[in-house]
Amino acid sequence: MVDTKEFIETTMVEIKEIVGNDKVISACSGGVDSMTATYLVHKAVGDNLIAVFINDGLRREGEPEFVVENLRKWGINTRSIDAKKEFFQIFKGKIDAEEKRKAFRDKFYKIFGKVAKEENVKIIVQGTIKADILETVQGIKSQHNVLEQIGIDPQTYGYSIIEPLKELFKPGVRKVARELGLPKEISERMPFPGPALSLRVLGEVTPEKIAIVRKATQIVEKETLSLGTFQNFAVLHNDKATGIKNGKRVYGNIITIRVVVSEDAVTAKAKEIPYETLFKIANRITKELPTVVRCLYDITDKPPATIEFE
Ligand code: XMP
Repeated sequence: MVDTKEFIETTMVEIKEIVGNDKVISACSGGVDSMTATYLVHKAVGDNLIAVFINDGLRREGEPEFVVENLRKWGINTRSIDAKKEFFQIFKGKIDAEEKRKAFRDKFYKIFGKVAKEENVKIIVQGTIKADILETVQGIKSQHNVLEQIGIDPQTYGYSIIEPLKELFKPGVRKVARELGLPKEISERMPFPGPALSLRVLGEVTPEKIAIVRKATQIVEKETLSLGTFQNFAVLHNDKATGIKNGKRVYGNIITIRVVVSEDAVTAKAKEIPYETLFKIANRITKELPTVVRCLYDITDKPPATIEFE
């Protein structure tokens, strides 16, 4: 990558040229990529930018508040759209991972079509990075934020898209975020996928299952924070297993704990974590979540596994 300062300057000039004096929307889910892209575009076009956070009901605990508060703190015009019902609706009856991913992608772009119309905007900014494009183009998985590169014209949804970070991998994005002076909670943020917890509920995604994986994720993240690993999370299985709670048989849920070390998410290693940590997590999850009877630890690297389960 070219020098980070130079990248920022050149990209700002390019953005100004494309946007001119028009208004533009930035799709901001709150991850390091979309927050950095939003901040960069705001620096380039100021109040002509509207950051849009979609509350799809699939975010981690406290995430919607965290994202919107930060954007507003930076002086960025921000809209939060409540689309929880619409997203849960599209997942009804869908159990196949790619089918779920494509349904999420379509709803995501349609909502931006609606907002763009309301705001009379013709351009949407996205924080897509190189790894997202590569995985989608190679057919590994349809990342939610890749369209043009697989031959789908965003004009079908009513706008064009700019992706200022599309030539960077995660470490490059972090450098840009640091250079822009973004707080550590953003620049060093653990990566979190656009389709959020929907990728961590195997089978049909429902509000009840999301609530379980959200709580389990909060426990895993808290108990593994000090490891400084790349991504740490919980996954809820579609299958059930037999367990015992209060002396009675419970045919309950299974949670997998995933902790990986990686540089750029293209490859990853399952982290060897202390048994006491695993035991504490399993203990907390099975105690704090009444329906969960079993916790597993994923020891698979990427490849052959991927980081997310779906
Ligand atoms: P996988 O599961 O493919 O994930 O090993 C690689 C990295 O990408 C994230 N990920 C996504 N990010 N939209 C995103 O914005 C997506 O659809 C998506 N799918 C996976 C994942 O969390 C990991 O950091």
